[in-house]
Amino acid sequence: MKRIVVYQSGTGFTAKYADWIAQDLGCEAKEYKNVNPGELAGFDMVIYGGWIFGGMVVGYDKIKACNLSNVVVFGVGMTVPSDEIAEKLSEQNQIPRDRFFYYEGGYNPKKLGIMKKIIVNMVKKSVEKKENKTADDLHTLETFKGADRTNKEAIEALVAYCR
Ligand SMILES: Cc1cc2nc3c(=O)[nH]c(=O)nc-3n(C[C@H](O)[C@H](O)[C@H](O)COP(=O)(O)O)c2cc1C
Repeated sequence: MKRIVVYQSGTGFTAKYADWIAQDLGCEAKEYKNVNPGELAGFDMVIYGGWIFGGMVVGYDKIKACNLSNVVVFGVGMTVPSDEIAEKLSEQNQIPRDRFFYYEGGYNPKKLGIMKKIIVNMVKKSVEKKENKTADDLHTLETFKGADRTNKEAIEALVAYCR
């Protein structure tokens, strides 16, 4: 089966997952900006990965517009992974649940532009203000200090699905 991994990554975490997945599936990983959308129809399966911005998988709209028949998607965000968050993101982004995988990326402020930093700081402040912080809130506050939470084992289910 001819497969390709296509991704959009702002600060490198999604790129890391894309490379791991491509390596395990024995195919190429390409950044979306280096892909000619027309070439995607020539693959039996397209695995698309985008970082999460305001609950949306960045760039997925462009892949959807290609009307491909066999697309598997992964989203990479800062939220602690759970079935609930994966369910919510698959609904919000209108991706069939069995074809969507959510991974924890991280936070690298050094690679972010000023506007994005401002948005992240607003979210950070709202978590800091919460009175009864959950374990996940505390984990997120730690991530805001700058952290790489990528986990290679997390890709196993997607790789098994694609095979
Ligand atoms: C402006 C902005 C908005 C974000 N919104 C979300 C979000 O809604 N949900 C989430 O889980 N993570 C969110 N994040 C965190 C990123 O998705 C996370 O840092 C991810 O690992 C970035 O991946 P990348 O390195 O491939 O760009 C946001 C980050 C930024 C900068």
